[in-house]
Amino acid sequence: MDYFNYSGGVLHAEQVNLEDIAKQHGTPAYVYSRATLERHWKAFDQALAARPHLICYAVKANSNLAVLNVLARLGSGFDIVSVGELERVLLAGGQADKVVFSGVGKQPQEIRRALEVGIRCFNVESEPELRRINQIAGELGVLAPISLRVNPDVDAKTHPYISTGLKENKFGLDVETALTVYRQAADLPHVQVVGIDCHIGSQLTRTEPFVDALRRMLDLVGSLNAEGIHLQHLDLGGGLGIRYRDENPPLPEDYAREMLAELQDLDYEILLEPGRAIAGNAGVLLTRVEYLKPTADKYFAVVDTAMNDLIRPALYDAWMDIVPVRPRDVAPATWDIVGPVCETGDFLGKSRALALETGDLLAIRSAGAYGYVMSSNYNTRPRPPEIMVDGDRAYLVNPRESLDALLARETLLPD
Ligand code: LLP
Repeated sequence: MDYFNYSGGVLHAEQVNLEDIAKQHGTPAYVYSRATLERHWKAFDQALAARPHLICYAVKANSNLAVLNVLARLGSGFDIVSVGELERVLLAGGQADKVVFSGVGKQPQEIRRALEVGIRCFNVESEPELRRINQIAGELGVLAPISLRVNPDVDAKTHPYISTGLKENKFGLDVETALTVYRQAADLPHVQVVGIDCHIGSQLTRTEPFVDALRRMLDLVGSLNAEGIHLQHLDLGGGLGIRYRDENPPLPEDYAREMLAELQDLDYEILLEPGRAIAGNAGVLLTRVEYLKPTADKYFAVVDTAMNDLIRPALYDAWMDIVPVRPRDVAPATWDIVGPVCETGDFLGKSRALALETGDLLAIRSAGAYGYVMSSNYNTRPRPPEIMVDGDRAYLVNPRESLDALLARETLLPD
């Protein structure tokens, strides 16, 4: 559930009229709802309330400092994949000792910084990475807490680009290799084995793949115990899907119930890394219709946002709901909603039933996750602003990029 609703015939974010936001900040613009972010985070936190746990929000989903700060104030942990994300978490008031560091390509300076600030755990994805962490921890005279990311070879039944738990994927270690690498880790002087980790993909709409993955993890945990390698936490990753159209993903409480049933009386601390399920439906992308272009074949509505602002439709053929901010009481036509970028793949939605006029304001829903963070300057388009609504107030938390600032970074060759 989110806090984007119609009131008086106009779509609002919490108590703020989206027409007012467009008037004040222009379009395109990302608009987030604090209450929705908090509600979603708390749903995960409460689902695991009965046992030790930490919700580590996946920063990559939406890394705006205000978003991170709202979650940090709730006591959230964070899942990061770069030193840049680590600096964001720290700036936003997040605690280093609640940060887990995932990703297959951690660089030496990233590992060093993470050790200096004292993160909670490295989710190690390969044997050479383990050795690199051990070496840097030795240089710094500290002990690096690590878990191994296991690739359980389960089919997450999601888009192939966002499926990560199959053995053909670059992520993690298969179960047998993980056992060998755990043994090596246990012998290394500067790492401390504290957990196990798994993330099988994103936008999962059923619990079975999660349960399969957990069973495989628990088998491995059993083997480790038999060898005297004892863990403190299980990190089950992120991946819980959201409703973009008609999906019916499990709620956090249903997901948690099934996972806890598998765990029975095992008393490991549970870490989760949800991203989309917290931020996705907490944001919309506001855009205005620039031109209506009905052709013999198709009706095109050209809007002022594009694939550079929101790449999910172009990249994954993702369906995202597009709604009028002020619906018209006339019969709809069928429109392709397209952007100004010079690519046929630059569409936001196809064959949408909408009653449109030039100048109309539209909201692309579920754009709070993997929206702004994946934006680019393609076609020299400055990035849109980000606005956070909190009750009856709207805060500009990242201004629109200016063309001048964009161009000022570049230089010419000398004469
Ligand atoms: N943990 C790890 C290690 C991950 O790689 C990811 C996402 C997450 C947690 C969070 O997953 P979530 O709960 O958000 O599903 N750009 C794509 C999604 C890529 C997801 C990458 N990894 C999209 O727009 O659909």
